[in-house]
Amino acid sequence: MKKLAAVILAAGLGTRMKSGMAKVLHPILGRPMLSWPLEAVKPLKPSVISVVVGHQGDKVEAAFSSERGLVFATQKQMLGTADAFKTGIEPIRGFDGIVLVINGDMPLTRTETLKNFIAAHRKSKNALTVGTFITNAPGSYGRIIRDGSRILGIVEKKDATPQQLAITEVNGGIYVIEPEVLPLLERITNNNAAGEYYLTDMVGLAVSAGMKVGGYVVDEEDLFGVNSRRELAGAAAILRRRMLNDLMDSGVTVMHPESAFIQPGIAVGRDTVIYPNVVIEGASSIGEGCVIYPGVRLVNAVIGNRVKVKDSTLIEESTVGDGCSVGPFAHIRPGSVLKNDVKVGNFVELKKAVMEDGAKASHLSYLGDAQIGRNVNIGAGTITCNYDGKKKHKTTIGDGVFIGSDTQLVAPVTVGDGAYVGAGSTITADVPPGALAISRVRQRNIADWVSRKANSGSK
Ligand code: UD1
Ligand code: CA
Repeated sequence: MKKLAAVILAAGLGTRMKSGMAKVLHPILGRPMLSWPLEAVKPLKPSVISVVVGHQGDKVEAAFSSERGLVFATQKQMLGTADAFKTGIEPIRGFDGIVLVINGDMPLTRTETLKNFIAAHRKSKNALTVGTFITNAPGSYGRIIRDGSRILGIVEKKDATPQQLAITEVNGGIYVIEPEVLPLLERITNNNAAGEYYLTDMVGLAVSAGMKVGGYVVDEEDLFGVNSRRELAGAAAILRRRMLNDLMDSGVTVMHPESAFIQPGIAVGRDTVIYPNVVIEGASSIGEGCVIYPGVRLVNAVIGNRVKVKDSTLIEESTVGDGCSVGPFAHIRPGSVLKNDVKVGNFVELKKAVMEDGAKASHLSYLGDAQIGRNVNIGAGTITCNYDGKKKHKTTIGDGVFIGSDTQLVAPVTVGDGAYVGAGSTITADVPPGALAISRVRQRNIADWVSRKANSGSK
């Protein structure tokens, strides 16, 4: 079997996006548009993937610098898709296998579709196979000109006659090309309405040269090209729905798919339930049997099994262990680690805080740069005063400690294992294990003060 190379055309500015950013860098579900066709092509294991860049080529290259096995070919002037393709095959000069060409603005093309397309090409003995689709909205796609089952050529919208405009089979922007077709590229001219070198002209040229050209009809959704922001939103909606369908198929309940925003590649365990209005981004993951309530956003958050993340909670760059309960209205800031069975309740903010197994902070606290031991109980309103105006300092709380409500822990400070801190204390010195620390002023009751005050006021 002949080897496969892939060329992705991604040099265009994308005029119709009306943007200062190259079209292929516009994100879809948190990933640049180009990464979608790229990810679809990778599993085909081509010998080379050549990406044609031009507009903001340095930025496009930078966005994909960590990818292995990519070569970038820079198109100097954006003279059209044929010129782009010529640029793209320069790095693979002498390659004698088949070349898959795909536009960089096609985020919905699936690997499976490309596999079937290539297999159909190999079977057909075509010199060139074009991926087409049938649509009742042919819009700006190139029209496929046929004579019965034979393809004769492709006519771009700008060059089409009214009769050709009515054709409903269009060019999807994917091609498989045998090496013998490549010399025809030299014969493509820019003698057309756009003054561009059209790759699509290769089809007519191959037919004229007596080569076998075929069309392979693909599902319309797969070949959706993004040229405008509306189409960007349309593609994003489809990708989002595909991702949610995959999650649901793997055993996750998504109560309201219309309002769940879950980035690609995020693992969610079986029997986890996701309520409406949930956003899960970055390198996040969720274990089994969790409940993610409305209004939650998880950013690079690793959530264990049987965790409840209650309403309107934000968890960023943190880890939450099995059996924890977080929220409602909690903010877990970067660098925090909740071990197992930890409880973080209403209006609690954590930053770089580690809470060991069974620790609880149920109400109204700020815990920053803190190490909190096993089964510690942090009373309502407790604050770690971790910042002295210049530096951050650490608070260390041992296992089994009880911190009374409305305590301030002025860091650096350590509370030893099993110690108690009385409510309303300001702790400025270390508390030994097993001790009770209390720093509030002793209460004084002034008898009959109210009536005396009232009498003195009536004079
Ligand atoms: C192209 C096809 C059209 C097809 C449609 C499918 C041509 C002439 N037309 O039209 O038949 O129906 O795709 O989506 O090919 N690019 C470059 N360098 C250039 C010009 C374009 O790299 O000089 C890249 C673009 O970045 C883009 C791709 O090629 O990723 C396609 O270009 P675009 O201008 O979007 O072509 P369409 O008008 O959509
Ligand atoms: Ca396009």
